[in-house]
Order: sequence, then C-alpha cells, then structure tokens
Amino acid sequence: MSYTDKTPRRDFLKNSAKATIAIGIGTSTLGSFVESCATTKNVTASASPFKTGFDQQPLPYAYTALEDVIDAATMEIHYTKHAAAYSKNLKEAAAAEGVTGNSLEPVLSNISHYSVKMRNNGGGHYNHEMFWQCMRPKQNDNRPTGKLLGLIEKNFTSFDNFKTQFSDAGKNRFGSGWAWLYTDKNNSLKIGSTPNQDNPLMNISDLKGFPVLGLDVWEHAYYLKYQNKRADYIENWWKVVNWDYVWKRYYSFYNIPA
Ligand SMILES: [Fe+2]
Repeated sequence: MSYTDKTPRRDFLKNSAKATIAIGIGTSTLGSFVESCATTKNVTASASPFKTGFDQQPLPYAYTALEDVIDAATMEIHYTKHAAAYSKNLKEAAAAEGVTGNSLEPVLSNISHYSVKMRNNGGGHYNHEMFWQCMRPKQNDNRPTGKLLGLIEKNFTSFDNFKTQFSDAGKNRFGSGWAWLYTDKNNSLKIGSTPNQDNPLMNISDLKGFPVLGLDVWEHAYYLKYQNKRADYIENWWKVVNWDYVWKRYYSFYNIPA
C-alpha cells in the first residue's frame, strides 16, 4: 500500500517539507551504510531485498508449527493481536505523518524525525515480520552450517560462544525488548539488545546495522508457557531458529553468492 499526504499533520510535523526531507535523509542514511559495506568489503552490496511494507504478511506456518517450543495459543495471540496492532497503528501514524512510499526501512533509519507512535509501531511491525521468518518447525541438532557457521565462528570463536552471548543479550534485557545478531558498518557480525521495539536500523539505536536474526523477549512472546522463566524460553528457542533465513538475509544484504 502507499500513503498520501491527505491527513492533517500533527503539531510535531507542521512543516510539510519536514517529512519529505526526513524520508530523503533516511534513504540516504541506509544507502550510506550499504555503500560503506560495499567499500569496506569490496562486494557489490545492494539495497537490502528485504523491503518491509506496512501490511502484516501471512504467518509462514501454522500456529501449532512451533509446539514444544512456542505453544499455539501464544503464537496466535502474538500474531493476531500484538503484531497485528503494530501494523494497524503504524499505518495510522504513516497516514498522519505524511509517509509516502511502500518501504518501512527509510522511516526506521530516520525515526528520530517521527513520533513515538511511529517509533514503537514501526519497530514493532518490522521486528515481528522478521521474527516470524527467523523461526521454523523444530529440528534435531538445529545449527547453522556452511558459510554461515564459518562467519559465526570467525566473529565469535565458536557457535557455542555465539549462543551464550546472544542468549545473555536476551536474558539481560531489562523489561521488554529484543536480542539481535546484526552486521555493522565494518562488516562484522555483532550481538546486542535494544529496548521496547527499537532495532539496529533506527538512527536512535545504540546498535547500528542490518539485523539478520532477532529474538523477541517481551513477556507476550513466552509467558503462557514459560511464565517468568525467560531463560528457559531462550534455551528452547534455538531449536526453531531458521538458519536458512538468517543466511539468506546476510548474503542478500551483501549480494554475494549463497
Ligand atoms: Fe512480540
């Protein structure tokens, strides 16, 4: 869908040029990051093919598909209530603030120029659209392989080290938020955590980069099955990580052969 500037602006965006400029800056910021990756790594980085729109996309599996790790009731409520609300509220904010275009990424990369509603719901929508794809039905000995495993070992010494660091990022997030594996401007894989619905694409985030794996550690993601035991949820979650999707995000971002 596309947005037009028919809705009167809120006070914080009275100047109609501001939103237009903001979007321009956002595109430039994301482009600069991509460009710096290409320069540093000598690869032909292109704009990420993972363009996120504003509508909620279908869940790529049944609510029951992740049972044993995430129960069907949690999945259904998470997808149809929480995530659906982020998309709905994002579209309201986009209409009110004069966002044009079909891609959320330029808005996120310049999120400081938008409202809190845009920040919370834009991040919420982006993060959840990614989160669903980052999971798949449980597999035995679910681990990354091939080039992705090599990258993880290069950046974190071993897969077990990586798992520990990433798990700690999720466990230690105070309150609600996300744990991330992302690629930074130096082409390194980094682990970090953001509060609420922030993510590494946002210009207000302490983390800066392109996320390739995200873990939702809001209580709504696990409380029905795990109650207060976030660590148990995280430990089990490794069984359903879709490493093929993680690798796809990485190689598509850098436009390198799979
Ligand atoms: Fe969530």
